[in-house]
Amino acid sequence: MTSDQSAPDHGHPGTRAGITESGDGKVPVISVEGISKHFGSVQALRGVDLEVHAGEVVGLVGDNGAGKSTLVNILSGGLQPNSGVIRIDGKQVSFTSSLGARRMGIETVYQDLALAPDLSVWANIFLGREEVVKGPLRAFGWLDRRSMIASAQTDLERTRIRIGSVGSAAGRLSGGQRQAIAVGRAVAWGSRVILMDEPTAALGVEQQERVGELVANVASQGVPVLLISHNLPQVYRLCHRVAVLFQGQVVANLRPRDCTVEDIVSWITGAALGTKP
Ligand SMILES: Nc1ncnc2c1ncn2[C@@H]1O[C@H](COP(=O)(O)OP(=O)(O)OP(=O)(O)O)[C@@H](O)[C@H]1O
Ligand SMILES: [Mg+2]
Repeated sequence: MTSDQSAPDHGHPGTRAGITESGDGKVPVISVEGISKHFGSVQALRGVDLEVHAGEVVGLVGDNGAGKSTLVNILSGGLQPNSGVIRIDGKQVSFTSSLGARRMGIETVYQDLALAPDLSVWANIFLGREEVVKGPLRAFGWLDRRSMIASAQTDLERTRIRIGSVGSAAGRLSGGQRQAIAVGRAVAWGSRVILMDEPTAALGVEQQERVGELVANVASQGVPVLLISHNLPQVYRLCHRVAVLFQGQVVANLRPRDCTVEDIVSWITGAALGTKP
């Protein structure tokens, strides 16, 4: 990626915006460069550069209105940027719908998760991509229920959250378990990257921990996660790197091992930029 053009280098060691550093020199799974977006006169994003590498959990933090959801909506196909490029495995991609983004391997887990509460766990995992029986019955379009149940089980085992039976209705599960289904579904769809916008905001403490473990497990299996959260202690614990958005710009890329939670807060509020007391 070229050097960042919009966010100045504030001279804070290890925090230059838009860094390319991965440690291993590999091409990022997903990267954005120069993404800008305005809503009328509101400039929500101003030349955002961001990279996410295989196996990485990257936190995207910032104050209310900093532009986090706008960026996620652009990456998940819900919004079109006014300028900038998105790359997957180094190749420029474009899409105009959430289905288009999914086809590129970008799966998004939202707070409300969009699960069908009356359907079973396994049916939710396969929603929209039901497997059809191979062989003579295929002509009739019969669904291969047994194989879907078996692979739903495998997908969920990868998330390591206990669901009980994959036959139970999704609406009867806890928030943490629903997150597991949503992430299990993302894994099942062969996603290249998972975006999570405030996945733990409405969850209890224990369930937040579970979702945290889930994120770490998915990333350790190679699927990187971009995690948006206001829960800074959790972001600090979980993330390999934290990108801070301030007024639509990535102003810092911090590594928790090199900074404190307070350092992150000072970039979020703008204090580290010297723009606020
Ligand atoms: N559809 C829209 N129309 C007009 N303005 C919008 C729209 N969506 C977002 N904005 C504006 O863009 C800016 C960024 O909003 P965004 O939702 O991306 O912030 P955020 O970082 O996700 O905040 P929060 O932490 O509160 O969720 C805000 O000023 C917001 O008012
Ligand atoms: Mg938001």
